[in-house]
Amino acid sequence: MSIRTDLLSLAATGIALAVAAGATPASAQESVKIGLILPMTGGQASTGKQIDNAVKLYMQRKGDTVAGRKVEIILKDDGAVPDNTKRIAQELIVNDKVNFIAGFGVTPAALAAAPLATQGKIPQIVMAAGTSIITERSPYIVRTSFTLAQSSTIIGDWAAKNGIKKVATLTSDYAPGNDALNFFKQNFTAGGGEIVEEVKVPLANPDFAPFLQRMKDAKPDAMFVFVPAGQGGNFMKQFAERGLDKSGIKVIGPGDVMDDDLLNNMGDAALGAVTAHLYSAAHPSAMNKEFVAAYKKAFNSRPGFMAVGGYDGIHLIYEALKKTGGKTDGDALVAAMKGMKWESPRGPISIDPETRDIVQNIYIRKVEKVDGELYNVEFATFEAVKDSGKTKK
Ligand code: PHB
Repeated sequence: MSIRTDLLSLAATGIALAVAAGATPASAQESVKIGLILPMTGGQASTGKQIDNAVKLYMQRKGDTVAGRKVEIILKDDGAVPDNTKRIAQELIVNDKVNFIAGFGVTPAALAAAPLATQGKIPQIVMAAGTSIITERSPYIVRTSFTLAQSSTIIGDWAAKNGIKKVATLTSDYAPGNDALNFFKQNFTAGGGEIVEEVKVPLANPDFAPFLQRMKDAKPDAMFVFVPAGQGGNFMKQFAERGLDKSGIKVIGPGDVMDDDLLNNMGDAALGAVTAHLYSAAHPSAMNKEFVAAYKKAFNSRPGFMAVGGYDGIHLIYEALKKTGGKTDGDALVAAMKGMKWESPRGPISIDPETRDIVQNIYIRKVEKVDGELYNVEFATFEAVKDSGKTKK
């Protein structure tokens, strides 16, 4: 045999090996790994719990294999502390070689992980955090939660058009609270409304009582409130203890304060609160009724908007993997996610192909008693709302 034919046959063997490797049956491939970073302890733990539950529920129902590949969730608790988020994301990417990072219960956590997603070219699925700028921090970020701009602009318009003239605001003093405040103010004052008092409360363990007295003294028609998921119960308890429920001051805001997860334990003080939001457990679609029943059966609690962000986030990952045929190239996965549309328990949603942010209906809802339980009953719908809070380019 000549040297030439030897080389040719060597090359042919190489090609054959490469083809064989490419044609490995999917089941024999490594699993797809998703690093799920959530606050499972601390003040935001209810967010972590809801998202973890929802991801489990989705995988129970749809199976743990997609496009021929097994899906493995690696759940890590960051306690909503961004330094932890960063360290955990780094470990997941470098040591565990995850194909996705997902979760992110608060904005600072989502921002801390963004440079790592970019460096690693790994999709970062934001299932909870809601500050507008987040998706601008990495081309690998795709969001299935919401932005505060989506709900706060709409409640601002609604308040101005519905006889509310003076508003006192109480917002959590960090990025999403500032988005909520600024977007509400922008629309409410453009509609002729006036802000008569403005207070910001700390994110960690807030004591609302001293601020509530100031609110009461300002005698507004309504109080605009943003506190992150998990804090609404405590807020409404102090609201009632200070007698604000008897003062005629109406609670309005984005729906975070009336999270379904806590709403039913708030008592009658919550009745009549009007909020704008992406999800109500009372959303009257067949899909949602079925989702709520399955979630209650599995976890003995009512799903809130964080659960829905998690359910849609894992759905987005499954559908992107279907589109790439199980390939985990980060750029291909993000391209597959852009423009994706589907029906969620919250209603129809899609991923804006330009911003990678969620486009969704925003509903105006009022807390009412239905069959002895408190619900956010939707009474107006704004369809396919995009985030209006991005940096103007
Ligand atoms: C956030 O930190 O971005 C955040 C957390 C909880 C919410 C809304 C926004 O309910």
